[in-house]
Amino acid sequence: MLPDDCWLVTERLALRRMTHDDLDWLATLYSDEEVTRYLGGLKTRDQVEDMLRTRVIEYYDTHPGLGMWMTVERASGQGVGFHLINNIQGETIIQIGYGLAKSAWGRGYATEMASALMRYAFEDLKLPRIAGMASLPNVASQRVLEKIGLERRGERSFPHPAYAAGGPLAWFEREADAWLAERQPPTGGSFA
Ligand SMILES: CC(C)(COP(=O)(O)OP(=O)(O)OC[C@H]1O[C@@H](n2cnc3c(N)ncnc32)[C@H](O)[C@@H]1OP(=O)(O)O)[C@@H](O)C(=O)NCCC(=O)NCCS
Repeated sequence: MLPDDCWLVTERLALRRMTHDDLDWLATLYSDEEVTRYLGGLKTRDQVEDMLRTRVIEYYDTHPGLGMWMTVERASGQGVGFHLINNIQGETIIQIGYGLAKSAWGRGYATEMASALMRYAFEDLKLPRIAGMASLPNVASQRVLEKIGLERRGERSFPHPAYAAGGPLAWFEREADAWLAERQPPTGGSFA
């Protein structure tokens, strides 16, 4: 059931690179008003095709280790959404993000894979810091960012058209050393 090209696996989910064959799936996701409410709004098929080419497929080569991947449900082998670690558009800041089809909401999927990506970002990519942002009314997304260990640090706005229209965003960040220290048990034995 699990596609061969999955590179990160959790208990229920896996991530794989997207290809041009995912256009139909991604166009369907971006045609859902509820899903896209806080993702910059509905996108036409042409807009999605452009995004898939430049921000997803070409991005894998220009930004090794980073990207936006298809989130696959292991039990069904079906794509249920995307998770990403990439630069905020127009900035060098690296963010974590996600978006799921409605049928996959409310099962802990966003948190499960985003937690695995945080560890990948800090342990494998050795990134010093990860950021996250969400629209102020997008409480579910803010909750996910908190649950994966980011800290709320006020609000921020960005000039790129992808974000500018939405006004200030809830802003989250976490540094690698603090995140890892919280999660790694001390090694070298325990005190009696
Ligand atoms: C945001 C989104 C990814 C969450 O996915 P999910 O798999 O349902 O999230 P999880 O189940 O891992 O966690 C959601 C958390 O938010 C909470 N939550 C959900 N809706 C909520 C609401 N309206 N108010 C308060 N909390 C809410 C859940 O209870 C859960 O927290 P808990 O575990 O403490 O109970 C999903 O709703 C989605 O894809 N939305 C559309 C795209 C989007 O907005 N992406 C983020 C852009 S910043």
